[in-house]
Amino acid sequence: MNTNLANLLYLIPIASFILALRFLSNPAHARRGNQIGAVGMLVAIVVTWIKVGTTSWWAIAVGMLIGGGFGAVAARRVKMTAMPQMVALFNGVGGGAAALIALAEVHRILPEAGSPKLDISTAIALSGLIGAISFSGSMVAFAKLQELIKGRPITYPGQKFVNLALLAACVGLAVTLVSGVQDEWLLWVVVGGGALFGVLFVLPIGGADMPVVISLLNAFTGVAVAISGFELENNVMIVAGALVGASGTLLTLMMGRAMNRSIGNVLFGAFGQVSLQAAAAAETDGGTVRSASAEDVAVMLAYAHKVVFVPGYGLAVAQAQHDVRQLADLLEEKGVDVSYAIHPVAGRMPGHMNVLLAEANVPYPQLKEMDEINPEFSRTDVAVVVGANDVVNPDARNNQGSPIYGMPILNVDQANAVVVLKRSMNPGFAGIENPLFYNPKTVMLFGDAKDSIDKLIADVKSL
Ligand code: TAP
Repeated sequence: MNTNLANLLYLIPIASFILALRFLSNPAHARRGNQIGAVGMLVAIVVTWIKVGTTSWWAIAVGMLIGGGFGAVAARRVKMTAMPQMVALFNGVGGGAAALIALAEVHRILPEAGSPKLDISTAIALSGLIGAISFSGSMVAFAKLQELIKGRPITYPGQKFVNLALLAACVGLAVTLVSGVQDEWLLWVVVGGGALFGVLFVLPIGGADMPVVISLLNAFTGVAVAISGFELENNVMIVAGALVGASGTLLTLMMGRAMNRSIGNVLFGAFGQVSLQAAAAAETDGGTVRSASAEDVAVMLAYAHKVVFVPGYGLAVAQAQHDVRQLADLLEEKGVDVSYAIHPVAGRMPGHMNVLLAEANVPYPQLKEMDEINPEFSRTDVAVVVGANDVVNPDARNNQGSPIYGMPILNVDQANAVVVLKRSMNPGFAGIENPLFYNPKTVMLFGDAKDSIDKLIADVKSL
């Protein structure tokens, strides 16, 4: 296939990827977006396959069978709570592929044409370095989330200096490579140094901050792949890489904003170590915790006019989404107005709650974003907090000494009554006390969220 025809056909995947992103921006169309993106990718693969010609036909087929087979099995088997580590793994291999392309290109060009042109050697050095950082950083993120290594920040004195010096050395070597020392081994050293930097850069970051780091590494992979597109003169790689780079960067910034943390604080703050100090600073006003039985809560819910469910990370752990939906349906049959309040960083990955509730076929109009639901809490009879903690912590609004001060939260404390479903008084991700639990309006229903909801279903039915 000639290059012009291939470029014309590449417009199909390029348009599909842009459309896919558009559809993915709303849970109601997200599945369609995924399908459009997948079709676009299939077209891109087939066109590239035909374009490459017959020489590497079998090698590509075998690679695709291994990669595609692994991807399909992993995607079918992965548990919803393990999704962040799967994204890390898949993202990492994307970065690794970009680094391998750089090495392969140098290996091909040097004996054929002597030194590559300046633009190509710049692209090779950059994609080798960035791809390697993304590969090894993502692998450490995967290992932390999969608990293969400790999730808490691993720090030592002078760590930032060591990391900075290593990065500077890698960049220096990359510049040497571009400025005329065309040696394959030099690129291997740049790629190896980048891989080492990726490991050292992610080690001091706490396991729970990994989704933000993965999103940033995802942006790195996008940039590395776009640069590889220049090396291979492949337009679809340039556009797809740029889209991933841009959306990964935006997602990283949005997550940081929703957690009220600067990206610098996530990357260099070794978050998770401050938690004990922070716990002491919480303003609980000397209140007491009141626990309730499922029967009491069932009565509150059944006779309410308006109930808002507030899901959090505990909903994902307990896998209680189907049960919550069942309870909500039961309440609606009794004439209760039910909605779900979605905080942008509830859970451990972007859109975590949307995905869980979509899995339970909760009608989309019942899902209310933070800005939409917050004014409604003052008119809510009962707010049911299902395994959420930080995203409903009033200290974020009221206590300037709190590490989460300034983080936008769901104002559940403004509801007439609050029921909190969790197993213990343990803190959430930020490791801090939550004064909501000591509020006189609040009752705690202790236990695994799924068990508690199942009891509530039985009790509401019996009323
Ligand atoms: P968290 O503050 O982490 O609180 C989750 C609560 O769920 C815990 O207090 C835990 O208490 C409870 N829980 C755990 N397993 C449970 C079970 N089986 N049944 C009932 N309860 C259970 O969650 P959140 O309110 O969703 O906030 C998310 C936090 O993660 C925020 O601080 C956010 O900044 C951070 N974060 C989010 C993201 C994204 S993108 N979503 C990324 C990185 C970090 P017990 O142990 O007592 O049960």
